[in-house]
Amino acid sequence: MRFLPPTASTGAESVDSLYYFLVALTFLFTGGIFLSVTYFAIRYRRRDPRECPRPVHGSALLESAWIAIPFVIVMFIFGWGAKVYYDLSVPPTDALQLYVIGKQWMWKAQHPDGQREINELHVPLGRPVRIVMTSQDVIHSFYIPAFRVKRDVVPGSYTTMWFTPTKVGRFHLFCAEYCGTEHSGMIGWVTVMEPTDFERWLSGAGAEGSMAATGEKLFQRLGCAGCHRSDAPGRCPPMTGVFGSSVVLANGQTVIADEQYVRESILNPKAKIVAGYQPVMPSYQGQVSEDQLLSLIAYIRSLAAPGTTEAGTAVQPQAAPPAPQPRRSRVSEGPTTITQPERRQRK
Ligand code: CUA
Repeated sequence: MRFLPPTASTGAESVDSLYYFLVALTFLFTGGIFLSVTYFAIRYRRRDPRECPRPVHGSALLESAWIAIPFVIVMFIFGWGAKVYYDLSVPPTDALQLYVIGKQWMWKAQHPDGQREINELHVPLGRPVRIVMTSQDVIHSFYIPAFRVKRDVVPGSYTTMWFTPTKVGRFHLFCAEYCGTEHSGMIGWVTVMEPTDFERWLSGAGAEGSMAATGEKLFQRLGCAGCHRSDAPGRCPPMTGVFGSSVVLANGQTVIADEQYVRESILNPKAKIVAGYQPVMPSYQGQVSEDQLLSLIAYIRSLAAPGTTEAGTAVQPQAAPPAPQPRRSRVSEGPTTITQPERRQRK
């Protein structure tokens, strides 16, 4: 009889250890209380109808003990739980970057090189995988029990999760948030493959251009390149080196240029104006689909500056784009070079 789903990721092992500890602790206390109640009921039972128990007065030692011991135990659980949660929240910087879109009622996954899957997700063994997720309609929840990861997938926003698979095989994938009639059918499989098999699968999966290349075409077609120039001063900030860096805003705040920031800047450009620029960009709300937004993000991500270590953006010194000027200046940045970090990384 199995109490838990298969354990197939590094995170799953740490979650299970904590879980087993909590179960053991619960059994220990439940058993202790049960035995004490039983023992006391027999030992101190009323033997005579005239028997009158002696009144009991407080004990400072006993009260201190039952405050101090549980306090130490719960703080230990809190510390351990916080550590596990933190590790599950922060992906390693060399993680493989994948994208997932939930919609009623299917999961669409996309790889950086352009391969697309529906209700399937292929990942390599032993390599951290980071997934950026969003929804086209209602709230879904992406859940892989064998990896002990579950996170809501929210329309209008990006959420992320990461895991490192430790076993080759096929594992269930669920939607864990009621999302309409066919919620229960919104299921699929995660396939963990040996790295060489994964490479073979990638090359046979029929990609039509990498996401970054698709995003670049879109960047040209939507006219973004007219203002976000990389070869000459433009009316809008150049995109080279932006992704993963911290950006100073007109109101003096600093934000990290992550997926959420890029998304917001496309759909609601006036929300965060970069210092030194005017709010001249129109909104692209309604003009770009979720897929296209992810492609644009993949493109801007591919323009990351050398040395950037944002998740999934290991940058090799050769073929790196020219060193960017600080983004607040309007100095020319030379020709744009598109790097494809994800492709190189897998070699
Ligand atoms: Cu999607 Cu339930």
